[in-house]
Amino acid sequence: MSHNLLAGKVGIISGALNSQSIAWKVAQKAHAEGARIVLTNAPLAMRMGEIKALAAEIDAPIIPADATSMEELGTLFTEAQAHFGGKIDFVLHSIGMSANIRKGKSYGDLDYKFFQQTLDVSALSFHKMMAVAEKQDALNEWASIVGLSYIAAQRAFLDYTDMSQAKAVLESIARSYGQRLGSLKKVRVNTISQSPTKTTAGTGISGFNAFYEYADKMAPLGNAPAEACADYCVSLFSDLTRFVTMQNLMHDGGFSSVGISEAIVDAITKASAESAQ
Ligand code: NAI
Repeated sequence: MSHNLLAGKVGIISGALNSQSIAWKVAQKAHAEGARIVLTNAPLAMRMGEIKALAAEIDAPIIPADATSMEELGTLFTEAQAHFGGKIDFVLHSIGMSANIRKGKSYGDLDYKFFQQTLDVSALSFHKMMAVAEKQDALNEWASIVGLSYIAAQRAFLDYTDMSQAKAVLESIARSYGQRLGSLKKVRVNTISQSPTKTTAGTGISGFNAFYEYADKMAPLGNAPAEACADYCVSLFSDLTRFVTMQNLMHDGGFSSVGISEAIVDAITKASAESAQ
């Protein structure tokens, strides 16, 4: 059900690869709430073609940009403002990639070129987007910028390897740039720390199903689905959250505040009883 929360607002949404992508759902929900949108993704993702279906569905142009390139991001923000006929009200950074994870490297055997690429694609790109927006003075007052993070920024999840460091940097950039853009332009910057979610990036992590099931059993509300994450993004883009900034906001069904749950106690008790037989 729409509440017209984003009526009259315009924004850039990155990272919609296919219908599982969190960004895909954010674009659909933001459109349903009355926003006009520009979609962007890496040129390589564009060749896979699925994003065109989303673009047609929500009547949004696609402006390709590799988020590690200041030049391509510059073109993105210039063309987006030309399309909207004005400045931008919200930006979603929904970008993550680790070649170390893709190639199954363990934490003790990371390739450092890949590590730097992970940081560049998954974290510094957040800084670059805001730096380009600032230089072009592309944001309206009270604009909202959101990045997507994961709890491995705070706690060790070894299979998440170098993405853990990327998320820690991402969250730190949200604080520092949030301070700067807040005082410069009353713009807010936050990250949402999302539950494990079955997407292309998510399921690429070894042991993902165990991450997913464990978090689901720990969280009193269960894992937060991508659709609910999209709702949370919409609330952060809306005027209802104008004084929320520089925060890492847990969107995890309560996972991060639980020590142990009954479901985990039951599972371990059952497994111990079976192994004793
Ligand atoms: P996804 O695979 O659908 O989205 C990742 C996107 O990053 C893709 O659209 C990809 O094309 C884009 N991308 C990669 N390199 C790029 C580059 N150089 N320039 C521009 N775009 C680039 O997966 P998902 O899960 O929707 O990921 C979105 C965000 O959510 C990521 O930051 C991810 O780390 C985060 N997240 C995901 C969780 C999960 O379990 N799936 C949990 C918590 C956070």
